[in-house]
This record gives sequence, structure tokens and C-alpha cells, in this order.
Amino acid sequence: KPLVFSGVQPTGNLHLGNYLGAIRRWVELQASHDCIYCVVDLHAITVWQEPAELERSIREVTAAFIASGIDPKRHIVFNQSRVPEHAELAWVFNCVARMGWLNRMTQFKDKAGKDRENASSGLFVYPNLMAADILVYRATHVPVGEDQKQHLELARDIAAKFNHDYSARIAEKGIGVEIAMGEEVVNGYFPLTEPLIEGPATRVMSLKDGAKKMSKSDPSDLSRINLTDDADAISKKIRKAKTDPDALPSEVAGLAGRPEADNLVGIFAALAGRTKGEVLADFGGRPFSEFKPALADLAVDKLGPIAGEMRRILADPAEIDAVLRDGASRAREIASRTMKDVRSIVGLLGD
Ligand code: TYM
Repeated sequence: KPLVFSGVQPTGNLHLGNYLGAIRRWVELQASHDCIYCVVDLHAITVWQEPAELERSIREVTAAFIASGIDPKRHIVFNQSRVPEHAELAWVFNCVARMGWLNRMTQFKDKAGKDRENASSGLFVYPNLMAADILVYRATHVPVGEDQKQHLELARDIAAKFNHDYSARIAEKGIGVEIAMGEEVVNGYFPLTEPLIEGPATRVMSLKDGAKKMSKSDPSDLSRINLTDDADAISKKIRKAKTDPDALPSEVAGLAGRPEADNLVGIFAALAGRTKGEVLADFGGRPFSEFKPALADLAVDKLGPIAGEMRRILADPAEIDAVLRDGASRAREIASRTMKDVRSIVGLLGD
């Protein structure tokens, strides 16, 4: 049965990239799938987090999920550390994944920077925990932005190696299912998860530099639109966004080599629920001085209500905590069954 899992780190400002690349898609998937959406606090602490700030961020991300339209009653919303099976399965995966695989992860290289000796060991095994998040629910579909693609390939590699290494034992215990591996169908325990990286805004770029992705950690607040920004801030940031001097092209091919234009058109398309081609059919030949105010109006129109709803939800932290507690207890029912199977497959003597 298809099951959706995805997560966001509670590390400061949630921004338009998180919303368009992930959360907005999560909202849509609720209509057709069972969904589990997680605030991944254990991932956050792979780099230093001020404890009080981390608590605040966990509640804020939860509020953003709900304000965006995620229904924590019909689906599951919780923070990762409340379900200890994530960390437990991650340990098993630390022993399945190979050093060489992790050495190839570009996000580790980016985040660790030059001073790699001083990066936490958690940052290095981060992708194993991410695989555990997904596979502890045996989730089949993971909606994310483009930057998570390599991590999801690693999750598939881990699932495939686990299924292969323990194939005899999985068959013997009779708890395998049919897993399609390319042409072949094998008996395995973990599914090979499909990434869902879709739509016109899978990689939203900085408003100040079309070569850098929009990020929570960019020191310039003008580089991103935060989900908590008010109408004035949104309009100002779009007005100040970097562009080239030319008018917009009338076809998508004309965006090639114009990263800032491509980015703003992609943002417009995603917010409007249209394709870039449709947006350019309207705006082709017109200057940025006309396009930017239209984009600002659209962004304020779509994001303003979310910010308002977030403020309302955040006014009652006890209610947010109740949502997370309830989500965690339902998540744990699924996760604990998986861990029981995993212990018995691996030969970790238990009940
Ligand atoms: P995180 O917290 O960095 O980002 C959350 C989601 O937002 C997407 N995203 C973007 N999409 C488009 N343009 C951007 N500029 C942009 N920036 C971020 C991310 O792709 C992501 O979907 N490792 C994950 C969290 C995670 C996870 C998981 C995801 C932990 N376990 C299991 C899926 C499944 C992360 O750091 O996302």
C-alpha cells in the first residue's frame, strides 16, 4: 500500500523553497495517500542548536505544516525524537551503509565545509538516519525538493543491501514482500522508495544570487521569503530581487542562461498552480518592472493567510504539543512493529 513520508528540519526560518519544493506538495498528497510528516529534530542537532531556540523551531514548523493545510487528525504529524525507533533503525543502517557511499554525499561536503575534522559524526551519518525515517514506516513515496535527491538514492541503496544481505533470513521468517528491482522482482523487507520531485519549483534559488539555492542559513534575509514574512517584507524582497535588464522571454527556452529570471518565473508558476510556459504566455515581452509587482501580489495573496494562521496556532503552544504527542503515539505503533521485525531479521535476540 502506498505510504508517503517526508520531513523538515526545525532550524530557523522556513522559507518559500521549503514551501514550494515540499510542503505544498505534501498538502496535495493527503487526498490520495496516507501521509506521515515529521519535524526532524534529531537531524537538526547534527549542527549546534541553541536548546530554547530548537524547541521554538519545532513548534513553529509544526504550526507551518498545519497552517499550510496539513491535517494532523487524518494523517500523522510529529517530531522525530519522540519515536525512538528512528534512532534505533538508524544504528542498524550505520552498519549497512558503507563509508564510501557516505563519502560521496555532496550535502555533507557543503555543510562540513573546510573544517571537516570538526564536523559532528552525526552530520556524516545524517543520510542513514534519513533512510531510517522513511523505512521505519516502509514508506513508498517521499516528496522533497531537488537537493534531497542524492539522500533518497542512498536510502534505496540501503534498502537494497539490507534486503540482499538478509534475504535468506527474511524468507525463513516469512515476512518478506515482493520488491521490484528494475526488471527483477525480489523478496525483501524494505521497499525501494520513490522520490517525488515534481513541479516548477523543486529548486528555488536565492533572490540575490541565481546560482545559490534559497536557504535557511543564508546570512542575507533578502535572499529568501520566510513563511512568517508580512506583506511589506514580501513585496520589498521581490522588488529588490536580482534580475537581468531584459524583458521576459515568451517561451521557456528563452530562460536558459538567465537563472534569476528562470527562478522568478518558476516561483510565479508554482504559486499560481500553472506551468512556466503558461506564465510566459501572459508575461512574455514584458519588463521585470511589470512582472515583479504581479509576483509580489500573488505571493502576498498565497502566503499571507499562511503567516496569519501560523501566528494564531503559535499562540497556543499546548495545543501544538498535543498534536505532536498524538502523532508520535500513532507513528510509534507502526515504527515499533518494523523494529520488531528488524531485530528478528538481524538476529538481535528480543521478544
Ligand atoms: P530541509 O529541512 O533542508 O528542507 C525541507 C524540504 O524543503 C526542500 N527545500 C527546497 N525545495 C526547493 N527549493 C529550495 N531552495 C529548497 N530548500 C529546501 C527540501 O528538499 C526538503 O524537501 N534532509 C531533509 C529532511 C529530512 C527528510 C527525511 C526528508 C530528514 N529525514 C526523510 C524526507 C524524508 C532536509 O534537510 O530538509
